[in-house]
Amino acid sequence: MADLIQLRVNGARRRINADPERTLLSVLRDDLGLTGSKYGCGEGQCGACTVLLDGAATRSCVTSLRAAAGREITTIEGLETNGRLHPLQQAFLDAGALQCGYCTPGMIVSGAALLRSQPAPTRPEIVKAMQGNICRCGTYPRILIAVELAAKRMREARP
Ligand code: FES
Ligand code: FES
Repeated sequence: MADLIQLRVNGARRRINADPERTLLSVLRDDLGLTGSKYGCGEGQCGACTVLLDGAATRSCVTSLRAAAGREITTIEGLETNGRLHPLQQAFLDAGALQCGYCTPGMIVSGAALLRSQPAPTRPEIVKAMQGNICRCGTYPRILIAVELAAKRMREARP
């Protein structure tokens, strides 16, 4: 049965009339048109659907609308600021850290969660934080380089 649910997505309030047990991923993609988050496995095992929930990397394919209500949701579309790419988005482009690109939004969102809590992660820390994100194209070496590059640029940009 549908309920009126208040969401906060990428800084904007959204009201959705939907079954609260639907997945957050389906609402983001099908109701709000935010198709950056991808459907991969649908069971929390690949990371393609990762979004930030109150700053924490979260699998939106196994998160209900009810669980997301009232929390701050950030998707890949919400990471840019005033038309400027997030440093991780830019670093993925600069490092060529993608092939088909299907895993890329989830990778970047997971990386963003990591860099929020650890501005200078070591390579093993990056691997540990992102090992739940699967890249079927095998671009892991370049993804590591991209995260390190973004971390360095973000540290250098700090006053
Ligand atoms: S689609 Fe959500 S973890 Fe795979
Ligand atoms: S670039 Fe194709 S799945 Fe990662």
